[in-house]
Amino acid sequence: MPLLDDNALTGSIKTDFTDIYTQPDPRAYFGALAGLEYQIPQRALPVVEAVLAARSAGDPRPVLDLCCSYGINAALLRHRLDLDDITARATDPDLADLPADELIEADRVFYAERLRRPDLPTLGLDVSAPAIDYARRTGLLTDGWAEDLEAGDPSPELAAGVARTGLVVCTGGVGYIGHRTFERLLRCMDDPGDAWLVVFVLRVFDYADVAAALAEFGLVTERVEGETFVQRRFADDGEFRAANADVARRGLDPTGREADGWYHADCFVTRPAAVAATTPLPDLLAGVGAGNR
Ligand SMILES: C[S@@+](CC[C@H](N)C(=O)[O-])C[C@H]1O[C@@H](n2cnc3c(N)ncnc32)[C@H](O)[C@@H]1O
Repeated sequence: MPLLDDNALTGSIKTDFTDIYTQPDPRAYFGALAGLEYQIPQRALPVVEAVLAARSAGDPRPVLDLCCSYGINAALLRHRLDLDDITARATDPDLADLPADELIEADRVFYAERLRRPDLPTLGLDVSAPAIDYARRTGLLTDGWAEDLEAGDPSPELAAGVARTGLVVCTGGVGYIGHRTFERLLRCMDDPGDAWLVVFVLRVFDYADVAAALAEFGLVTERVEGETFVQRRFADDGEFRAANADVARRGLDPTGREADGWYHADCFVTRPAAVAATTPLPDLLAGVGAGNR
């Protein structure tokens, strides 16, 4: 069913995936999105790794995955697995008939055996309670909260839980969330002026008002130049036409990107102003290879 994003920063029409976001485990999620070659978490990973390395040499503060769904970015960041491995696991025919509780326990063991970064706490925020429940029970998230900061203020538990966040990561979230969520989240932090964020934003959406909201906390937001990041194929002709119209209306050229049938995202990196002034973003990302087109 087409969804007219009521909080979208443009009027983009995107397929409504609410049903697959709210299952007790990610089998339906990967079943649906694998067919559309969903790949933004994997495309994002080299940038997130580079920012994490620059951000957190010796910094034990947690990473918060915003709109984390089933904890996919945390799974990639903390385990010896890529998105193909995680997709293969979730779409394994041998696991298709397992009751959700049994799958969750089996996934907990599966991920624990493949842990590569045990010391990095990963937090998650998503509006979907079942997705957060899965991500916590499997250990993909150290902690997580199912709340909607577009609609209202954070609970005391969420506010306390994210207070020490050092880095915020977001893939596939903007459009569902906008400046309200970012403002409310940063207000929870002990030191929002020291926050770093890596946010991948579909080119159909304008990120300017989020960047402006972050600037109020003394943070500078820069777009990664010269590269866009494939998110997934369009589900249908309606998405194709709407996305191509949206990017054209924003003054962007869809040639070779949306015109070829793919959603592409820009990557925005937000850092404290003093850091951004002394370390150019291209230097920070120098080790990140191109080839995300
Ligand atoms: C396209 S999925 C992206 C999931 C994951 N980050 C990834 O890249 O695979 C969008 C997610 O945003 C969540 N979401 C939608 N509205 C939200 C809101 N107001 N606050 C938090 N999460 C929301 C959905 O439940 C869903 O898990």
